[in-house]
Amino acid sequence: MDLRAALYTAVHGGTTGDRGFYTDVCRGARSVLEFGCGGGRLLGVLAGSERRVVGVDHDEGLLALAQTQLEQSGLSNRVTLRLDDMRRVDLGQRFDRVVLAFNGLWCLPDDTAVGEALRNAATHLAEGGRLALDVYRVDAFHNDAQPDDVAADARHPVATVEVDGTTWEVTECSTWRPDRREIEARYTHEAADGRTLTTTIEHHYLLEDEVVAAIQAAGLPHVHARHGLAADDSLLIEAWR
Ligand SMILES: C[S@@+](CC[C@H](N)C(=O)[O-])C[C@H]1O[C@@H](n2cnc3c(N)ncnc32)[C@H](O)[C@@H]1O
Repeated sequence: MDLRAALYTAVHGGTTGDRGFYTDVCRGARSVLEFGCGGGRLLGVLAGSERRVVGVDHDEGLLALAQTQLEQSGLSNRVTLRLDDMRRVDLGQRFDRVVLAFNGLWCLPDDTAVGEALRNAATHLAEGGRLALDVYRVDAFHNDAQPDDVAADARHPVATVEVDGTTWEVTECSTWRPDRREIEARYTHEAADGRTLTTTIEHHYLLEDEVVAAIQAAGLPHVHARHGLAADDSLLIEAWR
């Protein structure tokens, strides 16, 4: 087992209500592609009978976890996994839905990468298909907060999780770089048996208007954006040609 991947999936369980959002978005779709499927948290939700589902992720450890999850739930024959980069992968097929869930867009390192991934998502959409994504909203924070508001050395408890037969206490320490629109979160995982593992997640975010403009520039002129999920903190987007 890839301990880093197992801890990542245990800690990052998605935004409350996002399974319902993607279930609704994909209703009636005969094919669904998830970019950045990670450990497969949503693949089981997306995998319906009579539906072709493909998950793409560039993280081998997470994809191995996704494979295990699908096998354990008897869904491995309904979902194809592909180790690849969402910016460049060419699956040679088109889909009724392309989904990019749980801040996947923020995981891309810069505006160029965002544009490449969105264009590639649009390329993989069938006639009449839709792109759907959710990200946490940043506008108020970006516009109102001061860099000092996020103390670089402040460590916050995030979760207590059970992984690999032991209990792990997870804390987070973030650095915000507003000029580069980046948030770097460093996680420290401390096991009851003394093991420690540190990981870093970097997010490059866009403001709401910029996300809409980037999607339109990628070839999807119709963009429906709304606020929702936990405490309306998410930006939920559906887009089509
Ligand atoms: C926040 S996680 C979301 C995982 C999963 N979709 C979920 O909802 O739980 C973002 C995922 O995108 C993947 N990712 C980031 N950049 C990628 C890229 N360029 N190509 C493919 N996958 C990428 C990461 O490895 C990670 O699994």
